[in-house]
Amino acid sequence: MTLKILQISDCHLLESLQQSHYGAVPEEQLEKLSSIVEQADYVIFTGDLVHDASISAYQWLARWCEGFDVPIMFIAGNHDSPKIMEQELPGCEATDIQVYNVKDWQFIGLNSHKDNTTSGFVSEAQLAALDNMLRKGSGKSLVFLHHQPVNVRSSGIDKQGLLQQKNIQKVFEVHKERIGGVFFGHIHHEWEMQFKGVNYYGCPSTLYQTKGDCDDYIITGNLPSCRMIELDGNKTLASYCVYHEVT
Ligand SMILES: [Fe+2]
Repeated sequence: MTLKILQISDCHLLESLQQSHYGAVPEEQLEKLSSIVEQADYVIFTGDLVHDASISAYQWLARWCEGFDVPIMFIAGNHDSPKIMEQELPGCEATDIQVYNVKDWQFIGLNSHKDNTTSGFVSEAQLAALDNMLRKGSGKSLVFLHHQPVNVRSSGIDKQGLLQQKNIQKVFEVHKERIGGVFFGHIHHEWEMQFKGVNYYGCPSTLYQTKGDCDDYIITGNLPSCRMIELDGNKTLASYCVYHEVT
């Protein structure tokens, strides 16, 4: 049986509802993806759920999520407050590293949020825990985090990537046989590459997309989007982005 994992990223919800932001209303954008969420067996939010770290925006998201009968993992982005996420979102453990096991698969969520910086940060302790998890487990793993652990050929956003890219790439490379893919948000556009035997995937935003392979930060539109990952047995079957207007 195929298992459908849905990655949702960069919703940038605001304290004041119905307010247009970067060209669209954030909660309306997310609501347009409801029918896709209903198809998923598991949902993972990879950060920047909320733009202003406001309690009321997380409360809106909690109410929206409660409308679905699906397990959800929440991972913080640079705009988020892990503390408020844990207070307001159902079942949220925005800890440094979280794991969810389903069938032969292991989904690992890494927190790369660091207060007062746009860039991502993972500690030595997180890298050791990640290494340990990949060493001990069986079956395949998918790793999720907000900040890109590889450069995506866009200097503007690459200046704000994960600060420990080389260190985390080494861990991934050691365990490349176990890793089905590394999935991140933050860049607001589709991205895919293989590097040193590991497949990396960037997720578009639900609110607005940016131009890839471009040194300037250019917003290209507001098609709400997310990434679907289809798994079967012990291998990644497919990973593709779904845009609201073409579903
Ligand atoms: Fe974002």
